[in-house]
Amino acid sequence: MTGVWLQGLAGLLRARASWLLGLKPYGIGRAYADGLAKKGLNVVLISRTQSKLDTAAGEIEAKYKVKTKTLAVDFGKADSATWSMLKAELAPLAVGVLVNNVGVSYPHAEYYEAIDDQLIDDLININIQATNKMTRIVLPGMKQRKKGAIVNIGSAAATVAPSGPLYAVYAGTKAYVDMFSKSLDLEYRQFGISCHNQAPAYVATKMSKIRKPTMDAPSPANWVKAAIAHIGYEVTQCPFPYHGAMWGIVSSAPLSVVNLYLLHFHLLLRKKYYKKLEREAAKTKGQ
Ligand SMILES: NC(=O)c1ccc[n+]([C@@H]2O[C@H](COP(=O)([O-])OP(=O)(O)OC[C@H]3O[C@@H](n4cnc5c(N)ncnc54)[C@H](OP(=O)(O)O)[C@@H]3O)[C@@H](O)[C@H]2O)c1
Repeated sequence: MTGVWLQGLAGLLRARASWLLGLKPYGIGRAYADGLAKKGLNVVLISRTQSKLDTAAGEIEAKYKVKTKTLAVDFGKADSATWSMLKAELAPLAVGVLVNNVGVSYPHAEYYEAIDDQLIDDLININIQATNKMTRIVLPGMKQRKKGAIVNIGSAAATVAPSGPLYAVYAGTKAYVDMFSKSLDLEYRQFGISCHNQAPAYVATKMSKIRKPTMDAPSPANWVKAAIAHIGYEVTQCPFPYHGAMWGIVSSAPLSVVNLYLLHFHLLLRKKYYKKLEREAAKTKGQ
C-alpha cells in the first residue's frame, strides 16, 4: 500500500491504494467517505452500529471499487482497551487521511447549569478525546511516510461565531479543535503532514435537524465536495462558499452586535423547544 499524494495546485487529494479513516459513516462522515472513495482511497468506517457500517461499506465498495474496513466503536465509552484495539486494527494500514468527524452537540439550546453531567462527559469524550486519540494512532505512520492529512471537523459555532451562548460546552470543544489543529499543523507541516479545522455552519444532517438542503445549509455531499478541495491548504477553513461569506460578514460586524444576536437567537431556540414540549404534553393529556 502506498500513501496519499496531496496535489497542491488543484487542491485535489488523490490517492492510490491508500486509506482514508472516516469517523461516522452517516451525515458528513459518510459523505466524506464517499467523496474520498470516489478519488480512489480505501476507507475505514468507525461508528457505533455494525449493521449501519456494513450497509455503508457495501455501498461504497460496490460504487467506487475500493476496499473498506469497519470498526464498531462508541467514542463516548472508549477506554484504554478500545484505543489499543483501534491501534492494532489500524497498524497494518497506511492511513493517508484521518477525518476526525465524530461529534455531538446539545439536544437543544440550554443554560449551562441545566445541562446533564452525561452530556458534558459525552461532549468532551467524543468531540475532544476521540480527536486526540485517533490522531495519536495515525500520526507516527504519516510521519514515517512523510505525507498525510489530519482533517478535524470543527464548527462555525467556534470559528465564525465569537461566542456560543446556551451551547457553551459544544462551542468550547470546537474552539479546542481549532487551536489543536493550528498548533499541530505548525508542528507537522515540516514532516509533510497538514492539519485542518474544517468548520461547517449548518449542514442538512440529523444533528442539525435540517431535512432539506438549502443555500445556507447544504447537503453533506455538497459541503464535503468543497471540503475535499481545501485539504492541503489553510488550517482553519469554512470550505463551503456560503459559509465562508457568512464568516467574512460576521468578522467585520461589531462584536457586541454579533454577541447580542447570538444570545437572542439561541434564547429563541430554547423557548421554541419548551413550547414544543408543552404542546406535546397537552396533546398526550388530551388523548
Ligand atoms: N450538521 C451540522 O449542521 C454541523 C454544523 C457544524 C459542525 N458539525 C460537525 O460535523 C460533524 C458531523 O456532524 P453530522 O451533522 O454529520 O452528525 P450526525 O448527522 O449526528 O452524524 C451521526 C453519525 O455519528 C455516529 N455517532 C454518533 N455518536 C457516536 C459515538 N459516540 N461513537 C461513534 N459514532 C457515533 C452515528 O452513527 P451511529 O449512530 O451508528 O454510531 C451517525 O452515523 C460533527 O463533528 C459536528 O459537530 C455539524
